[in-house]
Amino acid sequence: HPGWPGLIEAYRDRLPVGPDFTVVTLQEGNTPLLPAPYLSELTGCEVYLKVEGLNPTGSFKDRGMTMAVSDAVTRGKRAVLCASTGNTSASAAAYATRAGITCAVLIPEGKIAMGKLAQAVMHGAKIIQVQGNFDDCLELARKATAEFDEIELVNSVNPARIEGQKTAAFEIVDVLGRAPDVHALPVGNAGNITAYWKGYSEYYADGVSTSRPRMLGVQAAGAAPLVNGAPVKNPETIATAIRIGSPASWNQAVAAKEESGGVFRAATDEKLLEAYRIVAGHEGVFVEPASAASVAGLLAAHADGWVKPGETVVCTVTGNGLKDPDTALAGIPTVEAIPVDPVSVARALGLG
Ligand code: F0G
Repeated sequence: HPGWPGLIEAYRDRLPVGPDFTVVTLQEGNTPLLPAPYLSELTGCEVYLKVEGLNPTGSFKDRGMTMAVSDAVTRGKRAVLCASTGNTSASAAAYATRAGITCAVLIPEGKIAMGKLAQAVMHGAKIIQVQGNFDDCLELARKATAEFDEIELVNSVNPARIEGQKTAAFEIVDVLGRAPDVHALPVGNAGNITAYWKGYSEYYADGVSTSRPRMLGVQAAGAAPLVNGAPVKNPETIATAIRIGSPASWNQAVAAKEESGGVFRAATDEKLLEAYRIVAGHEGVFVEPASAASVAGLLAAHADGWVKPGETVVCTVTGNGLKDPDTALAGIPTVEAIPVDPVSVARALGLG
């Protein structure tokens, strides 16, 4: 390979892939572990952002999808199906196209960010809007795939998804040379926290790292079943990616929290948007609102002393800000255009 071969080839010996495995890749993974100087200064911690928005379709889902679609193709499946708040559908659509198989996606009506819909459309997925929320879509997807053997379910209840996504933890340890003290990430359907914990635990078991991080799982306050300890019937949040009331990997998420000495926290939409603006405005990284949950969680955990100065903290920022331009531009006043004239430019800058 001339460069990074994609995560299946890079971590082949740590993934359940045999010699006959058909690899479908867009060279996902190997994302930056970016130092975050502003957040480090603010908290006294050594803070890094794991910038998952730089994967091929702009979210961490690509790690899971390279494995799930490869596995589906290897087992002779002709189609994949998923429920999605947007990113899973964008990723499934891209990898299915790459593999030359059909992709259908079930999305909650009117509740997915524009960029994600555009991706699924352009990659040729069959898009089915459902009169319900993500939880309804997932239940429907499970029923449909249970009845039709030729269609593979590629939500994170598919174990191949978790295998692919655990590689993000490997990458972090490979770069840092050790596990961080704290790992913060947004939690929706809870596949990703399950995957990170599996990755950290496997490296720890094999002696690649000598410790594991405390997991800080962050949900939106209006969609915080794991914080409340009970499913949420009508989840609501501006962070549509994590607008989920009944996470499929509930038990695994609780295990990750408990085994790691971690915690679940909720962040209000106001705090999510504040973190969203901090990451874009101070660190130069444009993420989608749900992704900022990790940072909102870190700031809250710093404020109440759960995270201590001097600790190394990794915040996964899960998706690219370009996916949801509407949230970025909401409330921005429209400005009148100026004449083609340098004096007007100066005036617009408040000079002259
Ligand atoms: N961040 C983003 C940007 C997401 O799209 C998701 C999940 C999460 C965080 C939460 O990850 O579900 O593994 O706990 N998006 C799914 C989707 C539900 O359909 O794209 P999780």
